[in-house]
Amino acid sequence: MSGRLLDGTAIASAIRADVARDVAGLVSSGVTPGLAVVIVGDDPASQVYVASKGKACLEAGMHSETIRLPATTTEAELLAQVDRLNADPKIHGFLVQLPLPKHINSERILLRIDPAKDVDGFHPMNVGRLSVGDSTAFRPATPFGVQQMLLRSGIETKGAHAVIIGRSNIVGKPMASLLVQDTPGGNATVTICHSRSRDLPALARMADILVVAIGRPEFVTREMVRPGAVVVDVGINRVVDPAAAKGYRIVGDVAFAPVREVASWITPVPGGVGKMTIAMLLMNTLQAARQQSGR
Ligand code: GUN
Repeated sequence: MSGRLLDGTAIASAIRADVARDVAGLVSSGVTPGLAVVIVGDDPASQVYVASKGKACLEAGMHSETIRLPATTTEAELLAQVDRLNADPKIHGFLVQLPLPKHINSERILLRIDPAKDVDGFHPMNVGRLSVGDSTAFRPATPFGVQQMLLRSGIETKGAHAVIIGRSNIVGKPMASLLVQDTPGGNATVTICHSRSRDLPALARMADILVVAIGRPEFVTREMVRPGAVVVDVGINRVVDPAAAKGYRIVGDVAFAPVREVASWITPVPGGVGKMTIAMLLMNTLQAARQQSGR
């Protein structure tokens, strides 16, 4: 068997087209959804993400602002930026790109973001709302994107055993909240595994749907996947490769070629989940603009 590809590029562009159409409707009613992204310091990967977020925003017909702050920015200065964006009526949603420099307490920053503008869905208020099934909660973009990929590919989650490898607040935990809910794309039985899980390969082999987000290159091998399982790889890792033009290549958390031989569906890296994240951020910004404007 060779698993079918879960095509993040195609699904994300369909979602972005849907968002652009809805944005045009809102704009004609007098509301232009606005997204701001705050980045502190010059981490190259974060700079690339932030630039793509701004570009995607403009392509969807939204207002976009990128606030670039030096690595020496103090916590108080960053809190002041958050306060300013909380109060700015042109901005319906914003996020502070993570990770932040070590001298800044990320939790304090996240807590200061108005939950109504928290399009990352990282504020504890939104985490709680998501967990109790409140449909006004913002769903963190990456797991929301995974759920949309499954839904739009006709993969049934109801009654399935979803095993998530990784317990981060950005992916693993919200992924579990989404998959367990009584909604389309939910109703799964969910297991979360992590670095302290006993016999992780055995747990992984129980999965009908295996979502991997642990940030370790090609961690999941063919032996860890039950034949016929759906494999979703959230990992994006750079590995040194002298044969590659740039001296490195990008791989996921799953050993793609051997795992594809046993999976029914699999996401490529790149071109899988990574493409979905920005599409879902745009969707969240549209949701924020609608919720704030009542349109
Ligand atoms: N860093 C990596 N992923 C994310 C994300 O989804 N949001 C923010 N704010 N930072 C990130």
